[in-house]
Amino acid sequence: MNISFFIRTLIITSLGLLHFAAFAAPLPSLAKAYEQIFPIGAAITPGEVMVPQTANFIARQYNIIVAENAMKPQSLNRDGSGLYTFENADKIVDFALAHQIKVRGHALVWHQQAADWMFRGSGPDGYATREELTERLHTYIHDVVTHFKGRVYAWDVVNEAFIPDEKGAQENGWRTSNWYRILGPSYIELAFRFAHEADPDALLFYNDYNTESPRKRAMILELIHTLQDKGIPIHGVGHQSHYSMAYPKDFSGLETTIEEVSKLGLTNQITELDISIHLDSRRPDVEEATPALLKDHAERYKQFFDMALRQRKHISAVLMWGLHDEVSWLRYWPSPRFDAPLLFDGKLRPKPAFWAVIKLAPTIKP
Ligand code: GLA
Repeated sequence: MNISFFIRTLIITSLGLLHFAAFAAPLPSLAKAYEQIFPIGAAITPGEVMVPQTANFIARQYNIIVAENAMKPQSLNRDGSGLYTFENADKIVDFALAHQIKVRGHALVWHQQAADWMFRGSGPDGYATREELTERLHTYIHDVVTHFKGRVYAWDVVNEAFIPDEKGAQENGWRTSNWYRILGPSYIELAFRFAHEADPDALLFYNDYNTESPRKRAMILELIHTLQDKGIPIHGVGHQSHYSMAYPKDFSGLETTIEEVSKLGLTNQITELDISIHLDSRRPDVEEATPALLKDHAERYKQFFDMALRQRKHISAVLMWGLHDEVSWLRYWPSPRFDAPLLFDGKLRPKPAFWAVIKLAPTIKP
């Protein structure tokens, strides 16, 4: 082998290796990138933690998780008093703890995916009486929070109690759910009291969507005042943050709510972030995610994270609602259709939105 051939071969091989190294470079981790800022995570399913590759992916990308459905009353206590099914939720929690991932509990009290047997009883029209429902609420919260005590560090105690901007079943902006109809507004106080009794160390949240709405903001702030006046612990507000390409125009309304909540001494968490690729998530207007659209989508995520980073002292976690686009609820709600609202595509490949979020992180000093 003559010397120039040897050198040429060496250069080509090294370039090849370099190219290979660059190609095979592991994806940056969101959890690592934001380590000094806030925990970052996603809603996951028991099935996902059972598949080693997916589980590894979650453990690498995230340091906080929430069960998408496995900790709702319908999943834990569907069949009646004392009949609990904790196996699926435990799979998620065991996986998380084995990987030093924090777990949020979602959600103790909600009008959907409830344990409907709780609302039946000896009251008018076969509904539960006030006493029956109070006792069931107490038992459920006590049993569930105790089961996860020391493993779930924060709970969405009540989800979506207020609908001041919506037509339909509401009274003074309160959603007239079965909880409200039978117990009145005091059900929220009871739920927070019971949760605190069961685990005094758990952080307790009120969680809702469209928290940028001035009317909803006012109701949330009033709830916080009421609970604080009565000495009932509430530690934070969860902002679901289900958004789209056109709504809201910017995130200043949400930012105001976050600031107002923090003035009352509470923390904020972004609990269910997704940004529908449609202008309005209820009225689909595209059938695929073109590169141009994905670029705009990344810009929307950048806008959101710019706000979250400005508010980082008042935000103690950011969670995406779903691991990747193909499992997003927006693929089937309000009817089956295309959407691409998350940071990873169906093959867990990073989308432009992922890179936009990663790129923002290092610019911030803790
Ligand atoms: C609400 C709930 C979540 C989830 C989403 C969409 O935001 O809080 O648990 O059900 O709706 O599916």
